[in-house]
Amino acid sequence: MFSNTDTITITRPDDWHLHLRDGAVLDSVVADTARQFARAIIMPNLKPPVINTAQALAYRDRIRAALDRASIEQAAFTPLMTLYLTDNTSAQEVLTASESAAVHGIKLYPAGATTNSDAGVTDLLGRCAKALEAMQRLGMPLLVHGEVTDPAIDLFDREAVFIDRVMIPLRREFPELKVVFEHLTTREGVDYVRQAQGPVAATITAHHLLYNRNALFQGGIRPHWYCLPVLKRETHRQALLDAATGQSDRFFLGTDSAPHPKGLKEHACGCAGCYTALHAMELYATAFESVGRLDRLEAFASLNGPAFYGLPVNQGKLTLQRQPYSIPEELPMADSSVVPLAAGESLGWKALA
Ligand code: NCD
Ligand code: ZN
Repeated sequence: MFSNTDTITITRPDDWHLHLRDGAVLDSVVADTARQFARAIIMPNLKPPVINTAQALAYRDRIRAALDRASIEQAAFTPLMTLYLTDNTSAQEVLTASESAAVHGIKLYPAGATTNSDAGVTDLLGRCAKALEAMQRLGMPLLVHGEVTDPAIDLFDREAVFIDRVMIPLRREFPELKVVFEHLTTREGVDYVRQAQGPVAATITAHHLLYNRNALFQGGIRPHWYCLPVLKRETHRQALLDAATGQSDRFFLGTDSAPHPKGLKEHACGCAGCYTALHAMELYATAFESVGRLDRLEAFASLNGPAFYGLPVNQGKLTLQRQPYSIPEELPMADSSVVPLAAGESLGWKALA
């Protein structure tokens, strides 16, 4: 990493947790991500979800076509595909995915946990043991939305309870399974990932590093700060910041950027998801600078992820420059618009094209 007070140049980063969606919005969201990132782990929660390799390859073709329409070279951005784990995912499907070399993880959504998760898993160890055994054997990572869906559990406690009810039993049965605890949001999660035996890592979003749950209610209800897992207390934000900027290579960048049309966020029952693909690296730089740890940004954004996934580090670079950057109020997208996180606010960094 090279830095002086006004610019930082790092190895080109990757986004290890991204929602690109499909259809008409694809062109804009792919272009936003490709401006900053060389690769991204593409979430499979489409409607219907991406549950097999054939569907993942077809989705990758649609993403590649969007790159072409945006005049982005195919070599400049590689979508790393994932499958959506269901109660019926077979060991054979895991093998097909692994042999494709296109699929880099299989995503666990507990049924009903978040946006488009109705097809999710109802009983992980009971229903998915054969798939998990194949994943462990083939080195295929399990990407976990780590929240229980039990309505009796307080929304803010669902990640901590997931560790006890799902992670610990899962990792007792499958100690060599690679697991990524996606969009980690709590101190309990950080402690668990730090001390766990075996191949466990976690992604952390920019919004969970920058905001605590007060942001949801500042001056009134703020739907654009609503995502799942929901923002937590300040003590949790500090634990996440400490993990992201610390020495452990188990923590890496995953934006969880998720575009929802403005009208469905500003709604009586607003959708969960924050759009950060436009300004991801500026947001992360702001968070790292807040604790004087810009020197750790490259490991978090560009080195730890490839090491965990067993992929090479990118060749290219990304430079961020210290300059005022006003986040747009709205981004036109297909026949609607998306409000980016922290719309209308100003950041102190801008990624150079
Ligand atoms: C994501 C989405 O919109 O697809 N929403 C979110 O709040 N993060 C789903 C997810 O990752 O939970
Ligand atoms: Zn997500």
